[in-house]
Amino acid sequence: MRVIGIESSCDETAVAVYDAELGLMSHCLHSQVAMHQAYGGVVPELASRDHVRRLLPLVRQALAEAQSDRGAIDAVAYTAGPGLIGALLVGAGFASSLGYAWGKPALGIHHLEGHLLAPLLEPDPPAFPFLALLVSGGHTQLVDVAGLGQYRILGETLDDAAGEAFDKTAKLLGLPYPGGAALARLAEQGRAGRFVFPRPMLDRPGLDFSFSGLKTAALVALRGRVLDDAIRADVARGFQDAVVETLAEKCRRALASAGHRRLVIAGGVGANSRLRERLAEVVRGAGAELYFPRAEFCTDNGAMIALAGCMRLAAGMQHGGGIAARAHWELGDAGATGDMTP
Ligand code: KG4
Ligand code: ZN
Repeated sequence: MRVIGIESSCDETAVAVYDAELGLMSHCLHSQVAMHQAYGGVVPELASRDHVRRLLPLVRQALAEAQSDRGAIDAVAYTAGPGLIGALLVGAGFASSLGYAWGKPALGIHHLEGHLLAPLLEPDPPAFPFLALLVSGGHTQLVDVAGLGQYRILGETLDDAAGEAFDKTAKLLGLPYPGGAALARLAEQGRAGRFVFPRPMLDRPGLDFSFSGLKTAALVALRGRVLDDAIRADVARGFQDAVVETLAEKCRRALASAGHRRLVIAGGVGANSRLRERLAEVVRGAGAELYFPRAEFCTDNGAMIALAGCMRLAAGMQHGGGIAARAHWELGDAGATGDMTP
């Protein structure tokens, strides 16, 4: 069973081929970051137009690199949401047309399901059930993953996502969009404890998060100061430590209350090495194990969509046809049946 996966929910166009026996056969990606950087963020209209330009060449490249004939492809999986609606429609329309032309089903995949399953692309994959910390640019959630399509949200952010907070604070520090990874690099040069920012929501029970106050705290810390490199690095360090500590403590509580033995980190912020280090300590303390995808599969990619498509196809979880694209779509509604009315 072999599936081609197409991701176009935001500012990356990505295509990959995944085979149930052979594993990942190819994965190709075009990042639009350089195009959006001049605007300080993603311009949806430009994103959609660029997906139109990139998709067909990337499909050709992914098939060539996989040395796979299109006849060997059993289904076309695509990101059906959540994301930028114009960008999603490009991928959904393109994938559905490809499926129609090839006489193969097109499967709409929940973008966050893709992120959650990405650690299964690695050599020592976690078995179900597991607890997942999903930390992307748009989402911060703790998810109880019982099996494919069986997702229960245990906690989530009440305002900004962790990645969004990284990007907004990076902007305050004068770093170009998307600043998460650059802020993390800057933080490595910063001194711990020079700026201590609040650890939001740790004083309350429950597993929800709130990160919007942190960028305000960073703004207040920077106000009236000469922004030399040392101050910027120290603020970056203080900010990162606050986010990482908050995420780590909520994971500790979730592991303790849900009784899971496996913790998965997924989504773009999962590429953060401090977060990985801290969570490694947390799972050690809980007698659990930590799983995460390699950094390039933490951020948006086609491999996770091809994998999710392959797993859904193998499980007979196909939706009822039609072109599905949803800007807003709760992970809990991704459904074990794959039923997805657009
Ligand atoms: O999962 P993703 O690629 O896209 C969404 O689905 O949102 O996540 C992108 C987010 C951005 O906010 C980016 O700044 C953040 O992940 N990010 C990081 C790092 N690498 C990417 N944040 C902190 N540390 C990193 N190393
Ligand atoms: Zn994503």
